[in-house]
Amino acid sequence: MLREDAKKLQLTSVVDNRPLTSDVYHLILKAPGLAAASKPGQFMMVKVAPGFEPALRRPFSLHRLDQETGQVEIIYQVLGKGTAILAQRKPDEQLEILGPLGNGFCLREGERVGLVGGGMGIAPLLAAAEQAVQDGKEVVVFLGAKSGEYLLAQEEFERLGRVFVVTDDGSVGEKALVNKPLEEYLKNQQLDLLLACGPTPMLKAVASIANAREIPAQLSLEQRMGCGVGACLGCVFPVKADTSEGFIYKRVCHDGPVFWAHEALFSVPTEMNKQGGCTCGES
Ligand SMILES: Cc1cc2nc3c(=O)[nH]c(=O)nc-3n(C[C@H](O)[C@H](O)[C@H](O)COP(=O)(O)OP(=O)(O)OC[C@H]3O[C@@H](n4cnc5c(N)ncnc54)[C@H](O)[C@@H]3O)c2cc1C
Ligand code: FES
Repeated sequence: MLREDAKKLQLTSVVDNRPLTSDVYHLILKAPGLAAASKPGQFMMVKVAPGFEPALRRPFSLHRLDQETGQVEIIYQVLGKGTAILAQRKPDEQLEILGPLGNGFCLREGERVGLVGGGMGIAPLLAAAEQAVQDGKEVVVFLGAKSGEYLLAQEEFERLGRVFVVTDDGSVGEKALVNKPLEEYLKNQQLDLLLACGPTPMLKAVASIANAREIPAQLSLEQRMGCGVGACLGCVFPVKADTSEGFIYKRVCHDGPVFWAHEALFSVPTEMNKQGGCTCGES
């Protein structure tokens, strides 16, 4: 780990860690240094337990930042070993974290900001929405989840601006994917900037909607991560570039996790996939 990253290693203490649904938890940490240094869209690597079980830290987006109280919040879904251990951590226990990491959202442009969140991808958008409102911008929020109980922080978003919700099962809002209300909204209204986080198919749909209408859009990507600090190359993602191949790989942890939609390539061009085959193109 580089010295500048090592400085981001800090001990925090658990303020609260309680379930919001059967498998989604809300963790509040006392971490004044992290709260002061972070911006929306950044993430931290959490060592869920001391020792080597598991050895690797796990990445989580910053859901909420409060510089006054020095608290940082995340919302996480229990998926495997690491998050199951994290769910058992109790108030006053210490937790080692590395952060803030990554670039975060850029909120300089635009008066009206659209935020599009799918599933756990809703989590990092609250800090961004709070920052945008604090900066005097209007926010319009589009949330999608598998069912109503997974529409995270809906009430908090409703305090900040207009909110459209959809679910996969129709339990709350229309039974639809979250790009549907976004497209409907854009038939009659304008957005100056879009911020999105969620599953890859959702991000692809948002990128295509934004690119077709020339709306600047920032996508927060999730890749499996090893180190979180740009060293292992385990999290690379192709982005358009002025090279002979037309793209380069960037590290989601170090160069992202936020990328412009017009740069994002969700798969490498097929011409590159043919490399290694014979000159007639067969492989
Ligand atoms: C920048 C970033 C921000 C993230 N923010 C959040 C967040 O705010 N809330 C949240 O719940 N999760 C978030 N994640 C995903 C989270 O890091 C993983 O769910 C977690 O590391 C799983 O650890 P585990 O040990 O429980 O699961 P593992 O045992 O490591 O894996 C269990 C299952 O989860 C899948 N998985 C693991 N990591 C990822 C990943 N990055 N993306 C998709 N699937 C994965 C595995 O393929 C496997 O099927 C984020 C990931 C990144 C890269
Ligand atoms: S996780 Fe190691 S380079 Fe990104």
